[in-house]
Amino acid sequence: MTAQLNPRGDVAVLVPAAGAGVRLGPGRPKALRLLAGEPLLVHAVRRLAAAPSVHTIVVAAPTAEVQAVRELLAPVAPVIVVPGGAERQASVAAALAAVPAGPTIVLVHDAARALTPPELVESVAAAVRGGRDAVIPVLPVVDTIKEVDAGEVVLGTVDRSALRAVQTPQGFRRSVLSAAHAAAGDSLTDDAGLVEKQGVAVSCVPGSEYAVKITRPFDLALAEHLLASAD
Ligand code: CTP
Ligand code: MG
Repeated sequence: MTAQLNPRGDVAVLVPAAGAGVRLGPGRPKALRLLAGEPLLVHAVRRLAAAPSVHTIVVAAPTAEVQAVRELLAPVAPVIVVPGGAERQASVAAALAAVPAGPTIVLVHDAARALTPPELVESVAAAVRGGRDAVIPVLPVVDTIKEVDAGEVVLGTVDRSALRAVQTPQGFRRSVLSAAHAAAGDSLTDDAGLVEKQGVAVSCVPGSEYAVKITRPFDLALAEHLLASAD
């Protein structure tokens, strides 16, 4: 069976979806929790599959749910499903290993950012296609940020004009991400961090409010509201 979307696309998207969702509270793995009646992963994959540059989607699923995830996604889009790892980075590495020959751009996208619009996928991919080695979507930081000591006493105020909140999808020239994973040591929560360690320049593009990561129950409620008000 072929797991290809647009055969002329140049982008493979890796979707780490193997996390437990501890911060969301007790229940199924986060990617399988329901948002407006459908699992978060279904929302995420449907939006990725709607991005015209996407050739292949590889999902790293919770080990016990690989077959269930294959069946869940079969009607949504042709995807490759592999077992994820104990850490996010291991899940990304497992998905990267399953990318077929062809795509020259690899995006890494959290299943938990279920409402990310296809336009953001395209804008990250376009920046890599335009010659950047690594591209991340970012938003300005809106809150005042304080640095504190171990006793929660303020040490100082950080200049927020130079700070950015980072989202996914993060995009890479395929060879750059492969080299960074081959050399990877400590587990990081963000893939751009791996390539930064290799001395690769990472560029920013404007992110999207809809690419918020669903982490806590409040985020799920917010996402429900966003979906309802988008109709
Ligand atoms: N992820 C993964 N493999 C892991 C851990 C995380 O594929 N071993 C994925 C999650 O499924 C999620 C993304 O990485 O799509 C971002 O992680 P996070 O938001 O922290 O999700 P969880 O780890 O599931 O949540 P928590 O940390 O609250 O348990
Ligand atoms: Mg986590």
